[in-house]
Amino acid sequence: MSNDIRIIQLPRIFDERGNLSVLQEDKEIPFLVKRVYWIYDVPGGEMRGSHAFKNSSEIIIALSGSYDVVLHDGIKEHRYQLNRSYYGLYVPKMTWRTLENFSTNSLALVITDLAFDEHDYIREFDFFKKLKQSA
Ligand code: TYD
Repeated sequence: MSNDIRIIQLPRIFDERGNLSVLQEDKEIPFLVKRVYWIYDVPGGEMRGSHAFKNSSEIIIALSGSYDVVLHDGIKEHRYQLNRSYYGLYVPKMTWRTLENFSTNSLALVITDLAFDEHDYIREFDFFKKLKQSA
């Protein structure tokens, strides 16, 4: 279960002064947080990602605006439109992922369990599919 692609609903604390959501490592999300980065100022029509990680899993949140996350598990494609700041998309390691259809001023937050390492990237889809088939 914990290794499946899924949407994680984060707590929402409603308040007349404005709402608040939260995530805590090993509680709302299934790993210890090593790194957080964000993608912003994406020009219309641009895509990000189009790669997989060998060892790194991640949570992707649309803190603002909307965009699509297109995932491929080696067999099937799954498309998620993210447009709420209280949903986190859990993307396990060894999942091909692309972010596209960014709305103006969208802000994509990515929370991961490993530090940046270029060697953790798989950037060729055919190679990714072969690795998945041989797993
Ligand atoms: P990349 O992960 O390829 O971006 P995306 O998948 O969103 O298209 O990263 C783009 C560049 O930024 C690449 O040269 C590596 C660098 N980078 C870091 O230095 N540290 C990081 O934590 C990340 C995610 C990227």
